[in-house]
Amino acid sequence: MDTHIGQDLAHAAELLLKGELVAIPTETVYGLAGNGLDEEAVLRIYDAKQRPRFNPLILHVADMKQLADFATEIPEQCYRLAEAFSPGPITFLLQKKSIVPDIVTAGSDMVALRIPDHPMTLQLLRMIQLPLAAPSANPFGYVSPVTAQHVFQSLQGRVAYILDGGPCSVGLESTIVGFQDGGLVIHRMGGIAVEEIKRVAACPIIINVSSSRPVTPGQLSSHYAPHAPLWMGDIDSLRQVHVGKKMAIISFSRKYRNPEPTYSFVLSPEGDLHEAARNLFSVLRSIDSLGVDIILAERLPEVGLGRAINDRLHRAQVLHKI
Ligand code: TXA
Ligand code: MG
Repeated sequence: MDTHIGQDLAHAAELLLKGELVAIPTETVYGLAGNGLDEEAVLRIYDAKQRPRFNPLILHVADMKQLADFATEIPEQCYRLAEAFSPGPITFLLQKKSIVPDIVTAGSDMVALRIPDHPMTLQLLRMIQLPLAAPSANPFGYVSPVTAQHVFQSLQGRVAYILDGGPCSVGLESTIVGFQDGGLVIHRMGGIAVEEIKRVAACPIIINVSSSRPVTPGQLSSHYAPHAPLWMGDIDSLRQVHVGKKMAIISFSRKYRNPEPTYSFVLSPEGDLHEAARNLFSVLRSIDSLGVDIILAERLPEVGLGRAINDRLHRAQVLHKI
């Protein structure tokens, strides 16, 4: 299959209506989309990503009204969060309606619904009048793509068309929120910070992002991993341990002086967590193309988007320990 990159919404819509896959831009990361009500299209998504079938997909919809098309009960708290953050980097875990194929939810009676904040994808959703099932458009376990070129590099030949909507403005996947016993459960740290949710929610909040027994199977630890082993911690001490290796250093705002053959990547010289989030996945991908022996990463401040960035770096690290 030839893979083309472009901005032709009518072409993208036509492919999706035929059951083919299209990579779509969102504000978080690019998604690998198929008609969420077409089982065969959804199966194609799992195959193209080589993703295990037990790991369910998010359904993307055009607006808040459509949440009720696919979920049976929508708690008041969900509307409250949707009013505040949707369209945006937040996903709601709700009881599914039977119209949602089991293959989308991997057999679960819960469905993950999200209204993405990207003008092209919102227009596409309105054109096709269907929900789009879309995981991040990367091979299973690898770093999520934040440009159309990233998608092309890793899924060329596996997707018919890549809609190019420019670089993603958030750069981290959505925050996944569930509703339980009148409270909120955060299942994945993401583009909406916990502090922001706290400001809006009028109920208790539990954070449940464990990687050993995740409610969202995508929280398995072997995620977001670059090819080179990654170690997180104090850079000066880690450097001593790994002296002599060809290494890349990822830091928040401090520039580490680098005697060759070290490469140094600063996520945000100004110390801005949003900028750091936007740069993270591109930096991980560029490091992979350098062929380093090892990646050393600083822990970012555990506030705002810093938590989600630390979560991704931590998961990238764990893979190489087991
Ligand atoms: O920002 C995002 O959320 C991006 C863009 C493309 O929307 N999508 C994304 O999808 O990150 P994916 O498939 O890479 O991650 C979705 C996560 C996985 O951890 C999956 O296990 C969880 O959502 N998930 C999806 N449906 C679920 C369900 N019914 N129950 C529990 N977890 C679910
Ligand atoms: Mg993913």
